[in-house]
Amino acid sequence: PATTLRREPVTITVTGAAGQIGYALLFRVAAGAMFGPEVPVRLRLLEVPDALRAAEGVILELEDCAFPLLAGVEVFDDANRALDGASVAVLVGARPRTAGMERSDLLAANAGIFAPQGRAINDHAAEDIRVVVVGNPANTNALIAQSHAPDVPAARFSALTRLDHNRALAQVAKRVGIDPGHVRRLSIWGNHSSTQYPDLSNVTIDGVAGHPRLADETWIRDEFIPRVAGRGAEIIEVRGRSSAASAANAIIDHVRDWAGGTAPDDWTSAALLSRGEYGVPEGIFCSFPVVSAGQDWQVVPDLELDAGARKSIAASVDEILWERQVVQARGLL
Ligand code: NAD
Ligand code: LMR
Repeated sequence: PATTLRREPVTITVTGAAGQIGYALLFRVAAGAMFGPEVPVRLRLLEVPDALRAAEGVILELEDCAFPLLAGVEVFDDANRALDGASVAVLVGARPRTAGMERSDLLAANAGIFAPQGRAINDHAAEDIRVVVVGNPANTNALIAQSHAPDVPAARFSALTRLDHNRALAQVAKRVGIDPGHVRRLSIWGNHSSTQYPDLSNVTIDGVAGHPRLADETWIRDEFIPRVAGRGAEIIEVRGRSSAASAANAIIDHVRDWAGGTAPDDWTSAALLSRGEYGVPEGIFCSFPVVSAGQDWQVVPDLELDAGARKSIAASVDEILWERQVVQARGLL
């Protein structure tokens, strides 16, 4: 066979690498799920000192997979070193919510982690850095990281709502009785929390809008929205721990579509720093329907939002504004 052209490795930093999302993510990334079968990857892991040994154990297992695409893997407990030369930063490391814990508790516990990581991205990441914040509260953690990286274009920062998007796709597919690949143009608006607004108003099935099974307002209000918006809590309750494999899968989808582009007749959802789109105040990370042509995410323009949708989005935006106020009051912005 002709010589395969191997590209330069992509450097991917994953924080919280010894945690459960890290364990579900790293092996798939090393196997090529994020950048495809032609692109080698170099992994740089960040952990807290107490978890370094566990992360080293993960590295031993990565080695034992003999992945042809894994060009190297190192672990650090110093954000500056872990993010050195990164083209992708997946900021997972945080404390997961456990049963009965409020999101406001998470704000206090996690906000301090993301300022130094934002600074490290600013000072050490590669020119083409793309950041996805996963650790909760993801929207506000993204704002903290981004606000500490003034030299990096704000559009390089995102927070993950792809898991919510995929959850909604799955519920729609179940309702219609098809597989999720037929469902397009679904939107998640707002916060990655129970206040999010999963929006079916533009959904097409095999390219056709207005499927009768999706027109039932009672189902949307009483089943679909609470099921999607409450899925994180449902997983915690049923599984006993927060989602991990599905979160890792969503991270891969998010970065793959961002770097590789979304399908021409579809969009996905991601939380981006608002520039005032759809009346969302500037300066908060809010989930929008987005497309990518392989460069920056672009918010899908000119969608119609009825009064009910606007009200739901406004309620979720209020929660993000409240979160920003909490961290501002603690001097973390
Ligand atoms: P986990 O507790 O299993 O792992 C977290 C890891 O992060 C731990 O190994 C911990 O040592 C590490 N860590 C903590 N502080 C760190 C720091 N400053 N630097 C580097 N590493 C650090 O948790 P998990 O289940 O992997 O979840 C991680 C986060 O992702 C949680 O905040 C969770 O709520 C969130 N989450 C988000 C989504 C989403 O869709 N946005 C989905 C699922 C989970
Ligand atoms: C999820 O959506 O599964 C998580 O964000 C839940 C959580 O609070 O960790």
